[in-house]
Amino acid sequence: MIGIIGGTGAEGQALSVRFASNGHEVIIGSRNESKAKDVAESITGMYKKFHIQGMTNFNTAQNAELIILTVPYYSQKDVLNEIKPNLTNKIVVNTVVPLVFKNSKVFLEKTVVGSAALESQKLLPDSFVVTAFQTISSEQLIDLKVIVDSDVLICGDDLDAKQKVISLINRIEGLRSIDTGSLDNSIYIENLTALLVNINKTNKVRSAVRITGI
Ligand SMILES: NC(=O)c1ccc[n+]([C@@H]2O[C@H](COP(=O)([O-])OP(=O)(O)OC[C@H]3O[C@@H](n4cnc5c(N)ncnc54)[C@H](OP(=O)(O)O)[C@@H]3O)[C@@H](O)[C@H]2O)c1
Repeated sequence: MIGIIGGTGAEGQALSVRFASNGHEVIIGSRNESKAKDVAESITGMYKKFHIQGMTNFNTAQNAELIILTVPYYSQKDVLNEIKPNLTNKIVVNTVVPLVFKNSKVFLEKTVVGSAALESQKLLPDSFVVTAFQTISSEQLIDLKVIVDSDVLICGDDLDAKQKVISLINRIEGLRSIDTGSLDNSIYIENLTALLVNINKTNKVRSAVRITGI
């Protein structure tokens, strides 16, 4: 069971749809239970075979074996502190990028320990944080007619957790996971995401990452 914290937003819904289309049971989490149920029902209304339900973030963290975090950076700390008791020994896939939009450009907000992902691991010492999906747009993930042509840059400090996330993602058609190393590489992935967004704005495209030579 995959639980998506902040799953009612653009990235959370997109990942719910992709994972459910791959046969996974998904829980969409929200601060508001009825909002989560409404979003889950609207997706299962479109895709009758998908197993998606809605719960509060707290209950999502309690019921899911693997957690994906898709909340804005400014709320990451509060959300994680609330659900932390339910995350012990679980894998937490962090998609969060501390982006700030200013004067039609994108910047990265300064984080306390260097990256949103490192901060989340500090907040969750008893969980295994692995980063993924930061560079992939929800617009591409949510459209199941699109085979997303991209690598997914993964980093994390626990090898088993990282391998589980890599296997999970590699089953999604088009995506290929690249192990970029330990969690401190999340600094570069978050910076690269800001660059990609600026490339998209400048060229009016949807760019993505492919690493060659591997
Ligand atoms: N959108 C993309 O294409 C994309 C791609 C890669 C990575 N990401 C990352 O994914 C994360 C979510 O992006 P998004 O575009 O999906 O954002 P979003 O739609 O603005 O927010 C996602 C969800 O977070 C919850 N949320 C919002 N403010 C909150 C607060 N103050 N406290 C607690 N929960 C709050 C909301 O759920 P409830 O109201 O239901 O609680 C909301 O539906 C971001 O960190 C972003 O960097 C996004």
